[in-house]
Amino acid sequence: MAGRGKTGLKKKIMAVFGTRPEAIKMCPLIRELQNRPAFQTIVTVSGQHRQMLDPVLRAFSVAPDYDLSVMREKQTLADLTAGILSGLRGVLEGERPELLLVHGDTATTFAAALAGFYVHIPVGHVEAGLRTYDMDNPFPEEFNRRAVTLLSRWHFAPTLGAKKNLLQEGVAEDKIYVTGNTVIDALKTTVSPDYRHPELLWAAGSRLILLTAHRRENWGEPLRRIFRALRRVLEENPDVKVIYPIHQNPEVRKIAAEELGGCERVHLIEPLGMADFHNFMAQSYLILTDSGGIQEEAPSLGKPVLVLRETTERPEGVEAGTLLLVGREEESVYQSLLRLLNDPHLYRSMARAVNPYGDGRASERIADILEKETGARAKFSETKV
Ligand code: UD1
Ligand code: UDP
Repeated sequence: MAGRGKTGLKKKIMAVFGTRPEAIKMCPLIRELQNRPAFQTIVTVSGQHRQMLDPVLRAFSVAPDYDLSVMREKQTLADLTAGILSGLRGVLEGERPELLLVHGDTATTFAAALAGFYVHIPVGHVEAGLRTYDMDNPFPEEFNRRAVTLLSRWHFAPTLGAKKNLLQEGVAEDKIYVTGNTVIDALKTTVSPDYRHPELLWAAGSRLILLTAHRRENWGEPLRRIFRALRRVLEENPDVKVIYPIHQNPEVRKIAAEELGGCERVHLIEPLGMADFHNFMAQSYLILTDSGGIQEEAPSLGKPVLVLRETTERPEGVEAGTLLLVGREEESVYQSLLRLLNDPHLYRSMARAVNPYGDGRASERIADILEKETGARAKFSETKV
């Protein structure tokens, strides 16, 4: 357990996160904070994810000081949120950090920001300002991120577009910092041209579609429609193979097994480690996903992405031409996939490497800003992305 009270003159910062994507995007920042003598960094994980969280912590050698271990199979959002909120209260009161850092838009993000607010500990929101302005898409993330904006004092926006959203909602400009996205910090170190994996050997010589799908609003019929569209494409294109590292969620696993289980050219595999997944992306032909983080990573790898959603809070990748929103209707997914596989001009235009999410130094910038905001560093000049 981390020590109580202040360590010398160090400023005590607590980072709270709990799911795989939060860990991938927060660990680079935690490592950066740990390297700064000005800070004592305390890491609290909610354990909202277990099997998918722990490998990321190990990959970054981040050892949590507190672990709320809240994950229960198929628990409701209410139970999850309540568990994190009450679990955090004691940790926050015991440690009394000068500020609390949260990331993104999960149940952990929302509950942690609210827990900080209740005990008057100011909150810094990493990856602030993403919006679809549609409360049902994604659900419940659009609510979570908007609520966390209200609860936060500092807003670390990954892009200018995210900053504009916050300004439009009345957030004070001097509390918004455009930093780039910490996801690029992680991606910089993981991809290697020499990477090999038995699953990639299986796919060698084929066009590989890398698939992920887990969003709550896609559970049930939408997922079934997506998988049916994929089956039709496979039947008509013998040179295509699919690898689907399936999220641990039992709801998703059941439908994937039912709809794709018997397909010879589909491999349903366990979730991959972060570095493995980044290399699978780099060696795929195209990506089919409803994930948020993957929409940010794929453009910088020059991989076309068909986004299995009606709307996205990552318009930068769409504007850059790497992401195409294809929705969740069978016909639309089927037609879009066929077109991308059969139209070399379209493929080339989407496969250009672009990176709207910064230069991989977002963590460094956020740490600089925190030094300034906590008074740990008297002199400060903002770096531009
Ligand atoms: C959560 C986030 C979502 C994020 C996603 C990233 C919320 C409401 N949702 O969705 O914003 O995009 O994480 O992956 O915060 N499970 C395991 N082991 C794991 C992880 C999950 O068994 O390591 C199973 C459990 O049965 C769990 C279920 O999956 O109850 C759902 O997990 P949960 O965190 O509630 O939702 P996600 O769909 O993962
Ligand atoms: N990812 C991973 N292993 C996998 C699938 C994804 O490490 O098998 C990584 C991926 O590189 C990205 C993040 O997980 O950084 C995205 O997480 P997820 O799709 O679960 O959540 P979202 O971004 O939609 O919130």
